[in-house]
Amino acid sequence: MSPERLALQILCLNDFEAAARARLPRPIFGYVQGAVEDNLSFRMNADAFRQYAFITRTLTDVSGRDTRRHLLGKTYASPFGICPMGLLGLSCFEGDLNMVGAARDADVPCIISGASMIPMEEIARHAPHTWFQAYVKGNPESYRPMLARIDAAGFRTLVITVDIPVSANRENNVRTGFTTPLRPGLRLCMDVATRPRWLFGTLLRTLAKRGMPYFENSFAQRGAPIFSRTASRDFGERDTLAWSHLADMRERWKGRLVLKGVLAPDDVDAARRLGMDGVILSNHGGRQLDGAVSPLHMLRDCLGRAGAMPLMLDGGVRRGSDVLKAVALGARCVFIGRPFNFALATAGRAGVAHAIDLLKREIDRDLAMLGANDLDQLACRASLCHLGRAPEPVPPMLA
Ligand SMILES: Cc1cc2nc3c(=O)[nH]c(=O)nc-3n(C[C@H](O)[C@H](O)[C@H](O)COP(=O)(O)O)c2cc1C
Repeated sequence: MSPERLALQILCLNDFEAAARARLPRPIFGYVQGAVEDNLSFRMNADAFRQYAFITRTLTDVSGRDTRRHLLGKTYASPFGICPMGLLGLSCFEGDLNMVGAARDADVPCIISGASMIPMEEIARHAPHTWFQAYVKGNPESYRPMLARIDAAGFRTLVITVDIPVSANRENNVRTGFTTPLRPGLRLCMDVATRPRWLFGTLLRTLAKRGMPYFENSFAQRGAPIFSRTASRDFGERDTLAWSHLADMRERWKGRLVLKGVLAPDDVDAARRLGMDGVILSNHGGRQLDGAVSPLHMLRDCLGRAGAMPLMLDGGVRRGSDVLKAVALGARCVFIGRPFNFALATAGRAGVAHAIDLLKREIDRDLAMLGANDLDQLACRASLCHLGRAPEPVPPMLA
């Protein structure tokens, strides 16, 4: 999409979804958009934000407001970042590089997934402050060489995702024909044929310029190909992962270590006692256990156990006002997934840059209307009231 059309047609993060749907083959769009089973947690994530309303303050001279946030040794432009998402290279050509590049240029944190398609060494050279997310097996012989590779690549912040002991029951993927690896066949060919922009701009361009894409960063060595009739991905031994492995990782990893996928105050307490540098409260965007509580609802209870360890969260954040609600409740930073993936599919790096810019402007505008000059002011005064239950979603005023 051209910069002019982006500016005219994409006015908020939610606008990217329809644009991405028109560009991505059905199984790939479904993979990004989908959640799990009955989508209960996915819906709860968004509803959680509607259960809070702002108490604004007036006449506070907000002309000097500042939305920057200090987090894990660096000051970022705004209190939000980009979630790790696998297979960004299916959303756009060199999706991993475009995502981290846009975040680097806009000075917001970005976490690259262990299920990425560009070798991590190249990603770290492109955007050195990127955080790396790993899925690890409960087996030191597997994760120790992986940690060594991530360190040698130059990453200084490592995120371990801990909410995926087994693969989720993503019925939506079965319905749309999405698998990893993707199985070439008549069905996939027909889905791709209806999206010629994607066929030429993403798939054929990738094959021509970079060859067959692989899961480059799942382990110490390259993993399975992205397209194959016969290959399978190795998900083994994730269910044996335990706190003892995290203690071992903490000892070996000299950089910052963050856990992602925690919801229980007791687990936050355990993470703090092990010396973790941060925790991202998350139910994986409602993609793992359907019915898992929304991270926003657990934030207050978890803060009581976090001490000085920063708590972040993700899931359902779509507006600057959502970001500020989480910040007012005590989150140091929030992360956003699907909308940035749709932005990448819509207009590549320019799409992500536009999404970041929209959100930054919403946060700045909302902070002013809240009568606050900085983010800490929100957290230390009564900025929110709880409504008890989520109001019914309001239909858009203009279609
Ligand atoms: C397409 C997609 C791929 C994802 N891949 C990963 C991943 O590789 N590692 C991970 O820790 N989380 C992954 N997640 C979960 C996100 O990091 C994040 O928890 C979730 O998307 C946040 O919810 P939101 O999409 O509502 O913002 C993925 C999410 C999506 C939508």
